[in-house]
Parts: sequence; C-alpha cells; structure tokens
Amino acid sequence: MKKRMRALVVARGREPVAPPHTGGPWPLSLPFSVGGLTIPNRVVQAPLAGIGNRAFRAQSRRHGAGLVVSEMVAAHGISHGNRRTRAMLELGDGEQPVAIQVFGADPGVMAEAARAVEEAGADMVDINMGCPVSKVLRTGAGAALLGDPARGEAVVRAMADAVRIPVSVKMRRGLRADEEDPAENARRFEAAGAALITIHPRAAAEEYAGSADHMISARVVAAVGVPVIISGDIADAAGAREALERTGAAAVMIGRAALGNPWVLGAIARGEADPRPPLGAVIDELMDFCGDIAGLMGPDRACHYLRKFHAWYLTGRGVADDDIQALMGEPTFEGAMARLSALRIWHDDADPVIVGRLTVPVA
Ligand SMILES: Cc1cc2nc3c(=O)[nH]c(=O)nc-3n(C[C@H](O)[C@H](O)[C@H](O)COP(=O)(O)O)c2cc1C
Repeated sequence: MKKRMRALVVARGREPVAPPHTGGPWPLSLPFSVGGLTIPNRVVQAPLAGIGNRAFRAQSRRHGAGLVVSEMVAAHGISHGNRRTRAMLELGDGEQPVAIQVFGADPGVMAEAARAVEEAGADMVDINMGCPVSKVLRTGAGAALLGDPARGEAVVRAMADAVRIPVSVKMRRGLRADEEDPAENARRFEAAGAALITIHPRAAAEEYAGSADHMISARVVAAVGVPVIISGDIADAAGAREALERTGAAAVMIGRAALGNPWVLGAIARGEADPRPPLGAVIDELMDFCGDIAGLMGPDRACHYLRKFHAWYLTGRGVADDDIQALMGEPTFEGAMARLSALRIWHDDADPVIVGRLTVPVA
C-alpha cells in the first residue's frame, strides 16, 4: 500500500468525533447550483485516476455524494477515437449528476473532448489542472496549465464555447508553492468561462506532502463569483463543516477518506459521526462492489483493480493481516470472492460463529 494510503487507513482507527450540530439544517445537506445544474448536497466525490469508473461513481452517489466526478480522461484519446478512452465516457444508471474530467493542453482537442462529454450525457465537464505526474506535465497538461495561465484560459474558453453544460476547473495552488497565485489564476479561468472552481491547495511539487492549507482555498473563494469546491484532507462531518465555514466554499470534495469507506459520504452530507457499519455489512458492500466491477471490466481486470480495495475496506476492522494479504494475492476473481464469502461467514454480525454454513472452502 502506498504511504499516503497507509497513513489514511491507520488514521481511521481513531475514535470518530461527533459534530456538535445545534439546530437548523445541516449546511452540507443543502443544494447548490452550478450554471443551470442543481447539485442536491455539498459533498462531491473526488476524481481518482485508476479508480473513479462508473461503478465506483454509482456507489458514491448511492451512499450520499451529491455530485460524482470521473477519473481523468485523455482528451487526445477521445479525439483519436481510442476504444478504451471512449469507453471511459459511458455513464451508468444512478450516477447523475456526474462530471467527466478531461486532461490536455490543446484548446481545439479539449473543445472536441468537451463535445464528446456532453454527447455522452454528462452534466458537467471538468478540466484537470492539478495532475502532478511528470508524464502529464511534460505534455503541458494537468498542473502545467497553472504555470501557463494564458494557455489555461484558452483551454477553458474553447471548451465553454463548445458546449452548453457547465465547464469547471480543478486546480492545485500552483506548480510550486508560492510561484503561482491561485486566486489570480482562478479569476482568469472564471473570466474565460469556468462555472465552478475546485481548489486542492497543495502545489503540484508537494504532491500529497504536509496538510492542505484551506486558508489558500479561502483566498480563491474570495477572488471569484462562481461556486468553489475545496479538496484536501477532509475526512469527516465535523471537519467538513469547519472547512466550509472557514473558507466560504460551496462544497467539499472527498477523495481518500471514502476509499473503503463510502459511508463517510452520506455521513458528511447528513452531519453524522463515522457511520461505518459492522464488519459483516462492510464485507457485503465490498462483495457487491466486486460484482459491479466484474460486470464492468470482466473478472481478470476486476481481480487486479480490486486488490487495493480489499485492504481499504478491511484494514483496521479486526480481519487478520494474513487474510487480507491472501485476498490481495489471489490470482483470480473467483478465488478472491470465495475468500470474501468465507470471511463473511466468520464475521456474521448477528451470530459471529456459524461454522456450519462454511460452504466455500479456502485453500
Ligand atoms: C489515487 C489518486 C488519484 C487521483 N486522481 C485524480 C484525477 O484523476 N484528477 C484529479 O483532478 N485529481 C486526482 N486526485 C486528487 C484528488 O482528487 C484530491 O484532490 C486529492 O486526493 C486531495 O483530496 P483528499 O485528501 O480528499 O484525498 C487523485 C488522488 C489520488 C489519491
């Protein structure tokens, strides 16, 4: 497991803090508008490369996210008609409202991608201006657009002119801390036609180090008239409300905190403390998700994709590390499901030791 993911799972072991909610509607439960689009609450599922496919997004919506955002999709792949890239634009049942995020640096290609996103039925098209990966930066895309805001503006304008759905920008504070002014960049992108800004206030060079400084987000909120979503290190209802109040943002975006814990999305939207159900229900959810993923990508790719999810769902929940490792090492989808079924029987919430029902042998 990568270091940043491991830190997150360990942090989840701590006692949750119930938000001291004192009357009136919970602020994150209220709808907000972006252009003509109404988002039913103020909790947004973050775009996550390699993770945020339509099964993941539908699960996030089902658990209470008001808006879900796709993993980043290559605009060049869309314009070249790449089959796999085009498939990433397909939407599933029950996931709307949904934004598809695209990355690229060529205004014409990005406008074409925006049209394809609109044709696919998405409610919004989001521009990735935060990706810190060198392979993307070298092409002038992702966070590189923050260091070349004239090009960033041209991309936003070309896309906003090409479609009727709202165009949004997801940006970091800059390429390097204190080199770019995120408030000024946000103002420029708004003037070019962005209907929404999401700010993750780390610089690209910082990747995920340190903590997200939402005082920087507050400066972005103050600089623009369009709604701003804040992203970074928001993990529970109390923290979400605090960040919203401190920044004046319209909504919070939740990424790593919902990996293996989709219940946190609804908890933040409703103002509840950490809502994770007993282990049996967690395994049920994981098995349902496995089934949805296998339906989407077939059992072989699903087996690979799901490995990290086993650790995210089960670490710190009383499942032996050896069992989690064995699950992650299973070479087939069927083998992993058999192990989960066996674990489920051993962790029946109503009656934890029902050995007689152990019908699935584990080698
Ligand atoms: C595995 C992973 C993949 C990500 N992929 C994307 C992406 O495709 N597009 C994007 O704009 N941000 C991406 N991000 C950044 C997140 O959307 C989010 O801004 C960041 O993780 C901070 O929020 P968090 O602390 O709630 O995770 C990714 C982050 C992670 C951990």
